[in-house]
Amino acid sequence: MCGIVGCVTAGDEAPRILISSLKRLEYRGYDSAGLAILGDGEIETMREVGKLANLENSLGDKSIGGSTGLGHTRWATHGRPTEVNAHPHRDGSGRIVVVHNGIIENYRELRAELREKGHVFASDTDSEVIAHLVQSNFDGDLTDAVAQSIRRLKGAYAIGVMHADRPELIVGARKDCPLVVGLGEGANFLASDVTAVMDQTNRVVYLGDEEIATIRRETLEIRKLSGEAVDYTPTTISWSLAQAERGGYPHFMLKEIHEQPTVVSDTLLGRLDEDKGEIRLEELAIDDEILKGIKRVNIIACGTSWHAGHVAKFYIEQLARIPVDVDYASELRYRDPVLEEGGLVIAISQSGETADTIAAMRMAAKAGCKVVGVCNVIGSTIVREADGTIMTHAGPEIGVASTKAFVSQLVALLLFSLKLGRVRGVLSEGDIRKHCQRLRQLPHAVEAALQSEAHVREVALKYVSAQDFLFIGRGVNYPIALEGALKLKEISYIHAEGYPAGELKHGPIALLDEKLPVVAICTESTIYDKIVTNVEEARVRDAKMIVIASAGDDAIQEVADDVIYVPRMDELLSPIVNVVPLQLLSYFVARERGCDVDQPRNLAKSVTVE
Ligand code: M6R
Repeated sequence: MCGIVGCVTAGDEAPRILISSLKRLEYRGYDSAGLAILGDGEIETMREVGKLANLENSLGDKSIGGSTGLGHTRWATHGRPTEVNAHPHRDGSGRIVVVHNGIIENYRELRAELREKGHVFASDTDSEVIAHLVQSNFDGDLTDAVAQSIRRLKGAYAIGVMHADRPELIVGARKDCPLVVGLGEGANFLASDVTAVMDQTNRVVYLGDEEIATIRRETLEIRKLSGEAVDYTPTTISWSLAQAERGGYPHFMLKEIHEQPTVVSDTLLGRLDEDKGEIRLEELAIDDEILKGIKRVNIIACGTSWHAGHVAKFYIEQLARIPVDVDYASELRYRDPVLEEGGLVIAISQSGETADTIAAMRMAAKAGCKVVGVCNVIGSTIVREADGTIMTHAGPEIGVASTKAFVSQLVALLLFSLKLGRVRGVLSEGDIRKHCQRLRQLPHAVEAALQSEAHVREVALKYVSAQDFLFIGRGVNYPIALEGALKLKEISYIHAEGYPAGELKHGPIALLDEKLPVVAICTESTIYDKIVTNVEEARVRDAKMIVIASAGDDAIQEVADDVIYVPRMDELLSPIVNVVPLQLLSYFVARERGCDVDQPRNLAKSVTVE
């Protein structure tokens, strides 16, 4: 789980460019960072443990310049986060350097083989083996040497390679880890994702699996492992750089929470057709006839995306009357699941690069299922491999805790469920029209939910010292309780659990006392009375009740210690609004506890390894 960057420019600018690119990739890993700069026939490397700022500080003390370079920000998988294990890694001659993201599963065998040939290894990493392999295959042509080396690798990789005797050249390659080439004016770039090259260029080429890029200042050649040239077309990125930066907020997470009204609008844009009573999802690319015949839906995802999957189960079952199973991708891939030919699998992933989700998706495709990817990153593996996609249009999400991407997933999944319902005749044109009208109000409702920010902050300050939290909800808001708990635990390190409120009395009620804050989602719904009863059950056991309620529900104050009001919503849309105060609550609790909100310990934004 790392970020890699590279550049081939003119002059001495490589260190400055690489540091600025790495800053946008810190979300991918931040336990150590390093640079390799090629100038005057020598490669100079610098590596520092800890955040990128440490590398930047020590670079400030030195006068390193060069036109070509590689950079890396690491999240350790093999070998502790030490200077020796930080990238870039060199071969024995010191002339070749490599940066790597991913895991080389057969590195032990390769290392043993290379040791027998006299190679001496300096680190505990799996990555170093790549530098030695390239050196052992180098016969004057760096691209050939990389091609021969990656044939030997088992596992996942995105790599950047440089040779001291080959100025103004870097070679990149990937398999199951993301890698893009940025095309500039008289300069070209390599990076794990587009945000890293966006201050240099908005023209990028996404490398495919087992493709090798030979990058020079003015040219880019891509070839397959077979040697066949790849005819590529650059993609123009429409995200502005400002979109990818903090925009004046203290943290990306808060900025991203505030972007949600726009994100909801963007995800709806061009997809609601009231005139025809239709939902338009063009990139879905699966015939209505096929959608009509679906007997079962399997949803696969991880983390927050899995919670979106549970909301989608509710949507699809209610609106399209198709049974839905929701699985953790990491579980499904090691089961012997019943995935039938003609079944529909929905892979939900913000990044589109989550290793478990990709593996489960491939399993489903092999079994003959149609796969729809619900994804936020154009050009990502899931988007490329799925039969059809529904892009979520949340823009780049930098905070490790997913917020706006989750909300955009819910909107996209609701649109898909409505489409399924219409195609299958469960919903009429008139029904779709009514849903469209409600959906058009949704950005305003999310905006209104954000108005609770100051009050949520006051509530957060009251409970900032709690050791544990319980989140409860029912029906379509049960997954929102799970999401509230996940958000709080990942950024504040407070233990939190999400539960269906009706399950309290089957166990967790034993935990309740005056020290336990319980966050209850208690907005208007068909089962409102049931959840109010659950709130009362908890209250009489002295738990501190923080209740999310619909505007105008004054009666709820009698059973709550704190009430956070959200706009009154149709039940199906309520999760999209109710999650907003929960995101703010976890944000303010974590901020008050002095936690690193955007880069919580032990977590990485994109989990590209198992
Ligand atoms: O990119 P993905 O949506 O596939 O990521 C899945 C999870 O890793 C992710 O949602 C994770 O749980 C986040 N840290 C949640 O905030």
